[in-house]
Amino acid sequence: MKYRILLFLIAFVSVCSSSAQESSEMKTARMQWFKDAKLGIFIHWGIYAVNGIDESWSFYNGYISYVDYMKQLNGFTAAKYNPEEWASLINESGAKYAVLTTKHHDGVALWDTKAGDLSVVKKSPAAHDLVAPFCNALKKFGIKEGLYFSLLDWSNPDYPNFTKNEKKYSDDSVKWNRFTVFNHSQIEELGENFKPDLFWFDGDWEQSADKWKAREIRELILKQNPKAIINSRLQGYGDYSTPEQGLPMTRPADKYWELCMTINDSWGYQQNDRNFKSSEQIIKIFAECLSKGGNLLLDIGPKADGTIPAEEVSVLKDLGRWTKKHLEAIYGTEGGLPEGCFYGPTTISKDSAMLYLFVHGNPRGQVMLEGVKNKINRIYVVGNGTKLLWKEYLKPYWSNNAGLIFIDVPENVLDEYITVLAVVLEGKLKIQN
Ligand code: GLC
Repeated sequence: MKYRILLFLIAFVSVCSSSAQESSEMKTARMQWFKDAKLGIFIHWGIYAVNGIDESWSFYNGYISYVDYMKQLNGFTAAKYNPEEWASLINESGAKYAVLTTKHHDGVALWDTKAGDLSVVKKSPAAHDLVAPFCNALKKFGIKEGLYFSLLDWSNPDYPNFTKNEKKYSDDSVKWNRFTVFNHSQIEELGENFKPDLFWFDGDWEQSADKWKAREIRELILKQNPKAIINSRLQGYGDYSTPEQGLPMTRPADKYWELCMTINDSWGYQQNDRNFKSSEQIIKIFAECLSKGGNLLLDIGPKADGTIPAEEVSVLKDLGRWTKKHLEAIYGTEGGLPEGCFYGPTTISKDSAMLYLFVHGNPRGQVMLEGVKNKINRIYVVGNGTKLLWKEYLKPYWSNNAGLIFIDVPENVLDEYITVLAVVLEGKLKIQN
């Protein structure tokens, strides 16, 4: 009898653990929309836009006192906040998801949190929930919703760290446990109220997975929405990596990744930061992400009244013109050819029957493609349709090697940013080893 009970228990435990364990097929299915989406828009919106200073870090690093930092609450009006307009602009850019800062390291929530008092709803003239209207607007456009949430909270009296030079306490399990309950209940509120497709955590570096109870956070999120995706900043419990402000030189080991990047040098609105990247530079960086099989999460920083700075609007519109023209070379593609095959970014269609070559600037004549063994059926300019002439060299009849393909690129087909050539292959792509 005892033996039977034991067997039953073993079977029960293994069923439970296998249902909690996700197979790689299940993960592939859950991550699919993210892998295909390619472009997301990050939005850093918070009280730091009032003075136009660094989000949270400005008081942490001592540029401004905590008291003065918090005075920005009085100027955060959101008076011209138009979430429909935001969503429509994001849609126009070609982005398939957006990530909004619901709470940065300063602890100021953009929604009416029941877990604490520090929110723009209770403490600023904005006085209403800013998250739900945005999520609803995104839904109308079919854009996936991501919510950024800082695990660390320098304002919370129960959180140990405060500024670079000042800690609130160093060891106090009662306070820490109270903080974890608070933190988990805010995460639960976000899941319940806004049903995000993606959680974008930040600030995990200050504590260990154990201390955050990262496993429980992950379980909580997936219990609320088994399809949710979680970024990597959860001390080992996330789904994809998030290189920040730096393009990986080679293809990252992680199959799923996203470069998060600002348009100027600031995440939030800073009037005096005029160091904007041009649309062309941003499109070039985006193409690099595509070529390395990743996404770009491009940040904008709305002003305290909710308007998006004109320079950022124009970048998003330029991106939109380019993404719309080059749809087939962008969405749902795989990262491109190995290094050495083409001087520029490339992508490959999911069925491996099409190759896309991204041509920077004016090649003044021909571009060269190496290492592709397939017969080529056709080459045309994406979004323009012009068929191009090409010729294969270094391919004697007795050779099994891939030849060298020279493709004519006449000036009249060039795009103002990056021109994309589609190479239609016979069969699935075969690369020379
Ligand atoms: C960093 C910063 C933060 C910013 C974030 C965006 O971790 O702490 O200010 O919001 O990166 O990726």
